[in-house]
Amino acid sequence: MSDTVFPVPAEVAARAHIVDAQYQEMYRRSVEDPDGFWGEHGKRIDWIKPYTRVKNTSFDYHNVSIKWFEDGTLNVSANCVDRHLEKRGDKPAIIWEGDDPNEHKVITYNDLHREVNKFANVLHGQGVKKGDRVTIYMPMIPEAAYAMLACARIGAIHSVVFGGFSPDSLAQRIEDCKSECVITADEGLRGGRKVPLKSNVDKAAEKAPVKSVVVVRRTGGDIAMREGRDVWYHEEADRVSDHCRPVEMNAEDPLFILYTSGSTGKPKGVMHTSGGYLVYASMTHEYVFDYHEGEIYWCTADVGWVTGHSYIVYGPLANGATTLMFEGVPTYPGPGRFWEVCDKHDVNIFYTAPTAIRALMGAGDEHVTQTSRKSLRLLGSVGEPINPEAWTWYYNVVGDGRCPIVDTWWQTETGGILITPLPGATDLKPGSATRPFFGVQPAIVDSEGKFLEGASEGNLVITDSWPGQMRTVYGDHERFIQTYFATYKGQYFTGDGCRRDEDGYYWITGRVDDVINVSGHRMGTAEVESALVAHPKVSEAAVVGYPHDIKGQGIYAYVTLMEGQEPTDELKKELVRHVRNEIGPIASPDLIQFAPGLPKTRSGKIMRRILRKIAEDSFDSLGDTSTLADPTVVDDLIDNRQNRA
Ligand code: WT7
Repeated sequence: MSDTVFPVPAEVAARAHIVDAQYQEMYRRSVEDPDGFWGEHGKRIDWIKPYTRVKNTSFDYHNVSIKWFEDGTLNVSANCVDRHLEKRGDKPAIIWEGDDPNEHKVITYNDLHREVNKFANVLHGQGVKKGDRVTIYMPMIPEAAYAMLACARIGAIHSVVFGGFSPDSLAQRIEDCKSECVITADEGLRGGRKVPLKSNVDKAAEKAPVKSVVVVRRTGGDIAMREGRDVWYHEEADRVSDHCRPVEMNAEDPLFILYTSGSTGKPKGVMHTSGGYLVYASMTHEYVFDYHEGEIYWCTADVGWVTGHSYIVYGPLANGATTLMFEGVPTYPGPGRFWEVCDKHDVNIFYTAPTAIRALMGAGDEHVTQTSRKSLRLLGSVGEPINPEAWTWYYNVVGDGRCPIVDTWWQTETGGILITPLPGATDLKPGSATRPFFGVQPAIVDSEGKFLEGASEGNLVITDSWPGQMRTVYGDHERFIQTYFATYKGQYFTGDGCRRDEDGYYWITGRVDDVINVSGHRMGTAEVESALVAHPKVSEAAVVGYPHDIKGQGIYAYVTLMEGQEPTDELKKELVRHVRNEIGPIASPDLIQFAPGLPKTRSGKIMRRILRKIAEDSFDSLGDTSTLADPTVVDDLIDNRQNRA
């Protein structure tokens, strides 16, 4: 790790919303008097009926309950759209940049208002009511944002499923939250290639039947429409009015469900509610990115992930910002695409993931340096620890040494950014997410749950609630408690390891549970394992993460075959294809090693610690292997690994 410190540049502090003295003072108040602090900042959004209660939360293991602004009412879509019309009607709300560099669109707040209202009326026409769950399986086109905001307008709960997930994964998510309506497109378009979204929905619906499928036309590709279930969005939209009154929602009414992988079992439906989430998303967006009126802000995430929810759609639009939405991929048509788009639309704030930075870093500086990037003034990073080498390249080559980098640590569960620099307040250290945002109280505990003081390393917990926190696992509050509040009773456990240095800066060291962070996306080892053992030739599988130059972590699968099956390269390829089909391309194993046996304790528990060490070639630090039922399997695994997995 790097010890270099990058002090706040004077010109950055001069224009910033928050400088260090303000950070210190506001932070102190936010933790000493959360009711006073959030009571004041909650007013940054419009309430129909103002709240009188602010914080009502308990992390008590026996009674976890999280409520913010609980007697207030509001409508999230009115906050993201209607309230800007008077001052910003003609201002761009969304700049959409297509996969094809010759295609872009500017959507003003007036346009957004019309489109969201129409979309809401189309959903009404499909029978969608307040409290219903709607699954959104869309490419990165403006209609994805319209659909989310339309749900919020009528009080329906959206569940966005990333377009890269397989029909089975989609079906599982439709079923879990019992959605009766799916919004999709004929096909997606990424890097010049078509993604068969509607056809995937058809396959998913065989397993998880739905009443209605609303199809947005994107490519015009040939798809099947099922009479009585499927409707074209453009045909319905032509028939409806462009006025739909926003429904009055309670602050604690659900806004969305977003599925994420955990260390065990099937993905969890992380549930976020309306008031606290919006306050937190909009406040972090303004302060972390030091957003000022008129600036162009671009987050390269997909709306299928929480980053897209909070920092493409809800945070920026609640602030009346201009948010850029990009349909394509970083390397198409060439590795200069990000910087060309920055120049084309005069992007001021650019937020991406370390995996993209590392991939572009490998493609050569000339793709960056041949663009101007003069408009850029702030860079952001999210999704996984950023290695100092990538940080330095991002800072010097992309930012020309002028743009601070905000390394933002957070999770699907947290709703918004929890640990981050504020550009006008925080001196930067490459690789550190630095300090907590207002109201966030991180702590480091050892494996027994003892709080560690001062400079220390251990597991990261958060000791009290913040408004953007998830409220429950949809339909399974007990799982919510067991997953996040049982390991260290009374604390929210993040699943991350962390070091705090002598300046009180936090350095996230990565997951300490059975979750792999592949290219900034979370993958549960258990999910990949169950996909593998579903293959008829596989008897057992154990999956671990290993260091990967571009992805951060790669997926390493140890596979034991059924009696009599031949361990061939062909079969390895077949297994990779099989996992892609079961879950989606993001779950593809990077390496498969056939293992005649797996290291197990006498009680039959697989010792992943050993498998992780072998996968990362650290054969000398396997630790204690004496509790293994058969220690010789380890030698076999090492031999195999050395002969190339
Ligand atoms: C996990 C959450 C939050 C949006 C994207 C991922 C890792 C996230 C950082 C960062 C180090 C990070 C953590 C976390 N992570 N941001 N800046 N530095 N690690 O959301 O899929 O819910 O994953 O991503 O391990 O627990 P997610």
